[in-house]
Amino acid sequence: MKVSVSFLSSSNIPEDLKKLNETDVDYIHMDIMDGKFVLAKTMPFREMRNIYKYTNKRLDVHLMVEDPKKYIPLYAELNTEYITFHVEVMDRIEENLELIKSYGIKCGLAIKPNTPVKALVPYLPLLDLVLVMSVEPGKGGQQFISSTEDKIKEVRALLDSYHSNAVISVDGGINEETKAMCYECDILTSGSYIINSKSFQKRIDSLR
Ligand code: DX5
Ligand code: ZN
Repeated sequence: MKVSVSFLSSSNIPEDLKKLNETDVDYIHMDIMDGKFVLAKTMPFREMRNIYKYTNKRLDVHLMVEDPKKYIPLYAELNTEYITFHVEVMDRIEENLELIKSYGIKCGLAIKPNTPVKALVPYLPLLDLVLVMSVEPGKGGQQFISSTEDKIKEVRALLDSYHSNAVISVDGGINEETKAMCYECDILTSGSYIINSKSFQKRIDSLR
């Protein structure tokens, strides 16, 4: 199992990113919020770019924003493996997925807990990743929604039926207990469980 770490709950991001460099974590999950798609707002790109200098890991960018095209060119500049935005933005989804691909970066769509899986269908041929949200997007440290287990299975079945090679990542409330409900995923995205601990590597190991 791959692990992606979100630093949303970190109180000292440079320090935590340096500690994560010493681990074998696969990706740094960058949560970007615009104060519109979700209430919270994360720091502007110029600050995010400074922070990014502390990591030597590949980035997995999660855009919780209303207008992805404003952010895609910025985050494409970094050492980015995936850029993911939400299927709930409704507008210009294909165009934005193609924009991500035009930078040679893998593209993903995220899906909120109450959005039906079938919303992904029109975009399946373009997708490299599906990010299944196991909490309402907007903040770290929330509890895993247990119906996510079935949702992940539904996404897996859908990808299989379309012969898609897209990977499944799950995001929100992941820890050593809730991971059991996510065995059909390829990537576990975890924030507070890892960041609020003394040994990042031990927690990462417990998720693999
Ligand atoms: C929620 C974010 C998640 C979240 C992960 O809006 O997209 O990445 O912060 O943090 P935990 O693991 O604390 O739920
Ligand atoms: Zn996220």
